Amino acid sequence: MSEKLNLIEHISSKQKKQGYVTQMFETIAPRYDFITVFLSYGMDGGWKRKLIDMLSPKGNELALDLACGTGDITFSLGERLPAGKAFGLDITQGMLILAEEKRREKNAANVFFHRADIMTMPFADASFDCVTCGYALRNVPDVELALAEINRVLKPGGRFLSLDFAHPKNRIYRWLYLNYLIVVGSLTGILLHGDADVYRYIPESLKRYPGQHGVEDLMKRTGFSQTGCIEFGGGIMAINYGTKPQ
Ligand SMILES: C[S@@+](CC[C@H](N)C(=O)[O-])C[C@H]1O[C@@H](n2cnc3c(N)ncnc32)[C@H](O)[C@@H]1O
Repeated sequence: MSEKLNLIEHISSKQKKQGYVTQMFETIAPRYDFITVFLSYGMDGGWKRKLIDMLSPKGNELALDLACGTGDITFSLGERLPAGKAFGLDITQGMLILAEEKRREKNAANVFFHRADIMTMPFADASFDCVTCGYALRNVPDVELALAEINRVLKPGGRFLSLDFAHPKNRIYRWLYLNYLIVVGSLTGILLHGDADVYRYIPESLKRYPGQHGVEDLMKRTGFSQTGCIEFGGGIMAINYGTKPQ
């Protein structure tokens, strides 16, 4: 069994964060699908459908889904691109094993999974028509570097959409939301894994995340145009979007 890493020490450091994040996702991988539905009160599927609708994949496009986990968004992209291809990328082996199992069950011939780091992707410049992220950017050690890498692998005119937890504008609502996540996350972590930190990671990573407007600023800085974001539930979730200029 690997040593338990300290949550705050690790996620506060660009050098140490990835080690913590990867170890945590290896731990929760077998329960990931259940916990995503449970903690979102079943709303996760609707947010992901909205992301795919906004992306509007078509024809023979090549789509890349980053931090694909067990492949929810990747499979939806594959279904919407019968003449195209959908690639899922993730750093956690446990997640990709489950995604591969689903791929075989679904016989999804146009879906492919790769193990790699978003920060250093094994793809040539201008490889993809569109890139998606589902709860990805909050997990990387350096959001700006990740966005620059996403911009690099997109074709000119390519679209990028990212769904993640967000920062409600109202400060009282934001405080209540973060504390709600701390209490529910800690209890769920103790019940399922005997470790409060496993899901307390969500509010702690959210505190250190630039949020939907910070991400939009970073997208502009890394070369995206036509940027914007839509929010759900008064700003508890958001989809950021943008395009790589032609
Ligand atoms: C919350 S899960 C999201 C899974 C899926 N996108 C979804 O929406 O259900 C976050 C995923 O990010 C992956 N991840 C974290 N850091 C990563 C990195 N640097 N490169 C690639 N994947 C990463 C984790 O392994 C995990 O599967």
